[in-house]
Amino acid sequence: MAFYSWTDNMQIGIASIDDDHKRLVRLIDGLHEAMAKGHGKAVLGATLDELIHYTKDHFQREEQLMQRAGYHGYEEHKREHDQLVKEVLALRERFQAGNGMLSVQVLGFLRDWLTTHIMRSDKRYEAAMAKLA
Ligand code: FEO
Repeated sequence: MAFYSWTDNMQIGIASIDDDHKRLVRLIDGLHEAMAKGHGKAVLGATLDELIHYTKDHFQREEQLMQRAGYHGYEEHKREHDQLVKEVLALRERFQAGNGMLSVQVLGFLRDWLTTHIMRSDKRYEAAMAKLA
């Protein structure tokens, strides 16, 4: 059974954004799978790096769309993205400095982090961005 799966209630209705979110969900699930299979620090580190890289890519794409749509909550949303990137970078630093394993709590944090952001913040721009879909 998957640790983290996409659910339809996470859908925003903008294909590129939904595709990004699905990929981020798969990346977090892949991180859990790599850990469950006992992969070493190198594999876990590379998976975590991919997650960070894709998170930044996604946030940038979303910010551009918000700006194109003239979304009034852009500044606040961008601040949240910046904070989320800081948190995930700090997590990677702790991982690199530690014993090379990610705890279930850390993976739970990543899962909740993404779900909360999508369900609370991304859903807020749904109507404003619908014209771009
Ligand atoms: Fe889909 Fe605001 O991140």
